Amino acid sequence: MILLLEICLLTFGLMASSEASIPANARHYIEQLNKYYVSKQKTTEGTELFDGNPLFWGRLDGFEKPEQKLLMTIILDAYNRILTQMQNETEDADVQNKLIKVKEYLNKLKLHYFSDKHNKLKTQASEVMAINETDPLVQRKALFELIKVYNEAAKLGDPSVQNHRSRRQAKGSRKHRSKS
Ligand SMILES: *[C@@H]1O[C@H](CO)[C@@H](O)[C@H](O)[C@H]1NC(C)=O
Ligand SMILES: *[C@@H]1O[C@H](CO)[C@@H](O)[C@H](O)[C@H]1NC(C)=O
Repeated sequence: MILLLEICLLTFGLMASSEASIPANARHYIEQLNKYYVSKQKTTEGTELFDGNPLFWGRLDGFEKPEQKLLMTIILDAYNRILTQMQNETEDADVQNKLIKVKEYLNKLKLHYFSDKHNKLKTQASEVMAINETDPLVQRKALFELIKVYNEAAKLGDPSVQNHRSRRQAKGSRKHRSKS
C-alpha cells in the first residue's frame, strides 16, 4: 500500500512539474515532508489523500487570469498558515526546518508573481466577508451606504456599458486600419 502511495505521489509530482518550474530543492523538501506525514498516519496509510476532494487543486478552473491571481494569493496565504501550524505542532527539528524552507520558497514565489494589488484585494475581500451582521452600527452603516453601492453594482453588472466600450474600440481600430 505504502509503495503504491509513493508511486501515486511521485506521478502526481511529475505531472505537476511538467508544466511549471518548481525548484529542485523545494520539490525535494516537499516530497520528504509528504513521506514523513504519510508514514506518521499509519492507520489510513494515506488513502484519504485520494478521496476525490482536493483542498486547493481545481479551484482556479473557469476563472480569468486576474481572478486566478487573487485566488492564488489566498491559497498561498492558506499554505503559509497551515505550514506554520504544522511547524508549531511538530517537535522534529528536521521537519521544522523543511517546513520553514518550503515557506520561504512559497513567499519568494508570491513576491515574484503577485503584486501588492492582489494582497490588497485579498484584504478587502476578507474584511468584507468578516463583517458582523449582528452589530447594530454595521446594520445602520450598511443601509446608509446602500444607494451608492446599489448604483455601483448596477453599473458594474450592466452589459451595455461594456458593449458600448468595445463597440467604440472596434470602430477606432477600423478607422485605424482604413488609414494605413
Ligand atoms: C504554538 O502552539 C502553542 C500551543 O499549541 C500556542 O500556545 C502558540 O501560540 C503557538 N505558536 C504559534 C507561533 O502559533
Ligand atoms: C458582533 O456584534 C455583536 C454586537 O455588537 C457582538 O455582541 C458580537 O460579539 C460580534 N461578533 C463578532 C464575531 O465579532
